[in-house]
Amino acid sequence: MTTLYDALGGEQGIRRIVDAFYRRVAEDPILKPIFPDDLTETARRQFLFFSQFFGGPALYSAEFGSPMLRARHLKFPISPRRAERWLKLMGEAFDEAGIDPLTKELAFARLTKTAMHMVNIPDEEENNSDAPRGRINVQRAEL
Ligand code: HEM
Repeated sequence: MTTLYDALGGEQGIRRIVDAFYRRVAEDPILKPIFPDDLTETARRQFLFFSQFFGGPALYSAEFGSPMLRARHLKFPISPRRAERWLKLMGEAFDEAGIDPLTKELAFARLTKTAMHMVNIPDEEENNSDAPRGRINVQRAEL
């Protein structure tokens, strides 16, 4: 049985996806404000994480321990709109990296669930960095 990691092209494929994704984040008006200006370390961590998330070597946990992704995202105001944008840019990155449609669909079933799980504020509080964070009932067709 092959893994999604292999179907994505292993290390090289995941590097292409992450690179294409953060090039887009750097230009995106609704995501850029919550990311650091220098995305080098963010992209490196995303690469380590994707490697294990898709069934390859557990590089992220080897360096940082348990991913606890929701907890690590709580300090950032993540609205449904930001989650949708994250998924849209990631979709474009998969296309730029030349990932085949079936592999993309399988990967996105997992990415969509994880992105929904990160949402912690309603759209209206997107620009309020003091907004209380909690679970949001995301019921949008796109998610
Ligand atoms: C739902 C929309 C999402 C938004 C708006 C978002 C935003 C962010 C931000 C702002 C950071 C911190 C960047 C930094 O300080 O360097 C981050 C880190 C990270 N994100 Fe996301 N993220 C989202 C979804 C996801 C998803 C779906 C995944 C995985 C499938 C993911 C994986 C990661 C990882 C692995 C890190 C690095 C964590 C660390 O070691 O600190 N994110 N994200």
